[in-house]
Amino acid sequence: MKLTEIQLKIETYATAEELSSADRELLELADEAIGRAYAPYSHYRVGAALRLDNGEIYTGNNQENAAYPSGLCAERVAMFYAKSKHPEAIIESIAVSAKSDDFKIVDAVSPCGSCRQVMAEYENSQKKPIRVIMKGENSPIQVIHTIETLLPLMFHEEELKRKK
Ligand code: THU
Repeated sequence: MKLTEIQLKIETYATAEELSSADRELLELADEAIGRAYAPYSHYRVGAALRLDNGEIYTGNNQENAAYPSGLCAERVAMFYAKSKHPEAIIESIAVSAKSDDFKIVDAVSPCGSCRQVMAEYENSQKKPIRVIMKGENSPIQVIHTIETLLPLMFHEEELKRKK
């Protein structure tokens, strides 16, 4: 038996003032996008904002549906929106923030498995890491510098190819 340990690096910032102005701007836009979320079922509103290497910023928010699985998370709305406009652009960073109508969110929101998988494929294909900035309500802010931190041992397209 061989034991492999995986180390993950997560930066925690007590307040947004500690972030760079670029990250703070992205988080502010994610916060703003929360206000436009469509979350009549969960009452859990999520906003996302991402920066492309061409300098453009795209935002998204969760879009729910009475047929629950038909809805989509904020992160994927933002990523698909951005990539549908700029297929060749590199996603540099994505900020995610959340607010609930029913309770205070005390921990930074952490992207779901499907959003991680989508981020992982873009990161893998662009060959440049994607940073993720995560926040709750009055929560410390967490920053990770690659999706590998959120999705170790990820499934990627090379797995679909025959290995020599
Ligand atoms: N949600 C997101 O938009 N992003 C996340 O990272 C976690 C969950 C949404 C999906 C659903 O509309 C609501 O939050 C509750 O799960």
